[in-house]
Amino acid sequence: MGVTQRIMKFFDDRFDTETIKRFIDKQAHKRLPPHTSWLHVFGSLSLLLFLIQVTTGILLLIYYRPTPAEAHKSIQYITAKVNFGWLYRQIHAWGATFMIAALLLHMLRTYFYGAYKKPRELTWMTGVLIFILTVSFGFTGYLLPWNQIAFWATTVGTESAAKVPFIGEWLRYFLRGGETVTGETLSRFFVVHVIILPWLVTGLIAVHLVLMRMKNLATLDPVDQERDIPPERGIPFFPVHVAKEAVVAILLLAVLVTVSVLWPWAIGEPADPLSTPAHIKPEWYFLPSYQLLKYFEGPYGAIVGIFACTVPFVLLLFWPLLDRGKERHPRKRPWAVSFGLIGLLSALFLGVLGHYSESNVNVFGQRYHIDLLGWPHAIVEGQDAEDQGGH
Ligand code: HEM
Repeated sequence: MGVTQRIMKFFDDRFDTETIKRFIDKQAHKRLPPHTSWLHVFGSLSLLLFLIQVTTGILLLIYYRPTPAEAHKSIQYITAKVNFGWLYRQIHAWGATFMIAALLLHMLRTYFYGAYKKPRELTWMTGVLIFILTVSFGFTGYLLPWNQIAFWATTVGTESAAKVPFIGEWLRYFLRGGETVTGETLSRFFVVHVIILPWLVTGLIAVHLVLMRMKNLATLDPVDQERDIPPERGIPFFPVHVAKEAVVAILLLAVLVTVSVLWPWAIGEPADPLSTPAHIKPEWYFLPSYQLLKYFEGPYGAIVGIFACTVPFVLLLFWPLLDRGKERHPRKRPWAVSFGLIGLLSALFLGVLGHYSESNVNVFGQRYHIDLLGWPHAIVEGQDAEDQGGH
């Protein structure tokens, strides 16, 4: 008996390896619906990015120190001294942005193909929870380098929590671990970022994947009329779909390393609680909420603002229970498709306004100052831009 057979026999005598083999075989040869395309790769891409985040995160943890005195210095040390530290720090920072982008594309795909409808409501709902937790990863991780931008962005971000009705003050205190952002906040964000969120997301991804596999991918047939996929028309998961996923995964890795090398994230100046930088903006995925909150001032306005920022996420979470239509094909769901497009364009529009607010832009040779609320004001030669901002 050869070595391989002896090893196999060792396991055969101790496990029911046949059942495991049959299970893997069944999963690998599953037939996916005929419309399964390149648009169906964003789920596995999100999974790959999560695994990259976990791996680079563990590497970062070896030298990172979560205290105000050491955090910034430890990141400098990782970047300058540790073998390939600069690379895995950059991949971790860019990976966060890529993962959120992959999740958004995956959500758009499942939304427009009506894949959230019965019997996949729970697959969608676990997905929305994963998305909210992934954004929380971004928020808590941003503070960890303890630089000026991170410190002040967290101060502004946690300040918005105070606007929540009834429990706002308590919530801000709870998030910060005190009245202001201090080492206490850093400890809290660290624990949430490296322990609580990773385990929660791992558990939710496991549930999500089991649910997805149990119900297979959605066809384009209406709810309760899904037909079995005929073997000759179905797309084999292995090797056809897996090959597509592998191509996209390799491209992703190439792009991730390229942007990490060409556009490294700065470490910035160490946090200084006594000096506020001029313009503090959050990461791109918070820009729509950041901009929306600006339109609601005063005690009642603030409550409406928080409401306006929360409702879209509640709608998203319960969407499969609200949209009771039976059709899945995008062409047969004009209302749901229009609603999705309006939501998407509004978020994009608010995001762009948030990005350009309080800055000067050049449009066809004319310079404009974009004020806090996103209104453009033409800049007249020789006059100071801020003077013309109006507000
Ligand atoms: C790290 C997070 C996630 C991972 C690893 C993941 C993984 C996957 C994978 C591999 C599939 C198979 C088909 C495909 O890729 O399109 C899938 C299906 C699905 N996912 Fe996700 N997903 C994640 C997050 C989300 C989010 C944020 C949503 C929506 C809010 C979502 C909703 C769905 C739905 C409804 C399906 C069923 C699609 C169908 O039957 O055609 N997932 N997911």
